[in-house]
Amino acid sequence: MSRVLVVGGTGLAGRAVAAEAVERGHHVIVAARRIPDDDSESYVVGADYVTVDLVSGDGLEEAVDGVDAVVDASNAAGRRASHVFAHGSRNLLHTAARFGVGQAVLLSVAGIDGARYPYYRAKLVQERTYLDSPLETRIVRATQFHDFVTAIFERGRRFGILMSPAATRFQPIAVSDVARVLVDAVEGAGEPDSVRTVGGPRVESARALARQWKRACGTRRPILSVRLGGPLGSAWRSGRNLAPEHAVEGQGYSAWLNDVAV
Ligand SMILES: NC(=O)c1ccc[n+]([C@@H]2O[C@H](COP(=O)([O-])OP(=O)(O)OC[C@H]3O[C@@H](n4cnc5c(N)ncnc54)[C@H](OP(=O)(O)O)[C@@H]3O)[C@@H](O)[C@H]2O)c1
Repeated sequence: MSRVLVVGGTGLAGRAVAAEAVERGHHVIVAARRIPDDDSESYVVGADYVTVDLVSGDGLEEAVDGVDAVVDASNAAGRRASHVFAHGSRNLLHTAARFGVGQAVLLSVAGIDGARYPYYRAKLVQERTYLDSPLETRIVRATQFHDFVTAIFERGRRFGILMSPAATRFQPIAVSDVARVLVDAVEGAGEPDSVRTVGGPRVESARALARQWKRACGTRRPILSVRLGGPLGSAWRSGRNLAPEHAVEGQGYSAWLNDVAV
């Protein structure tokens, strides 16, 4: 059993990691700026919770003290992404190194090499910070989560449509499958200081996935293909977000839809 600190452990992926690590018998400490009530859905029974702000450094020393491994599943959008991914990761890793933490596992995104999209560039800086740190590091790059792909379709809700990015394919993956790979990494799977990519079991067009979501939620809203501008749209259209050679035999999108309450 290890003492595992899951930073961002109240978020979508982090909760799954915390639950998986508790299930495997690790002592799990979840860190985030806000801690959920113990009767909330996002509370993982069996985990301890600490308040940490990666950017200011508040709470970091107490959080890493006595920990064997750190898993970083933190996230931020817009301008805050570069603060959290660059500055926050540096704070976390320096403090972890000072307190003798041996290992770090980072959750990153598949296909971001050479990216021009600012969020992906911030993830690349974060990856470099991890690989340059004195901790034994494993980076797991995942393709888009089922929940994320669904959230894209739902961006069209206020216009009465399901929005499907044109000429785009996804290989969505369940966060529970990503969590298994991350906890495997905590347990020493994969080479130290390595980057592993994992993808969902199938590559499908955004439109085909949107059709499945439409059926599952029983909406009459039409699916509208929208050409996404900017570097993210072109990265997705080029298929750089896909990793068919790294597909895991996990829960596909349709099975996930059957599981989530729609
Ligand atoms: N979405 C996808 O499809 C996808 C695919 C592959 C990889 N990823 C990667 O997966 C990671 C997790 O994404 P997610 O969607 O699960 O994130 P999320 O649900 O947005 O959760 C983010 C977590 O980070 C915490 N956090 C944010 N700022 C913080 C700070 N300054 N100090 C401490 N904690 C902070 C949040 O808690 P508080 O706000 O309370 O602090 C929360 O626990 C990201 O790095 C993302 O790049 C995502």
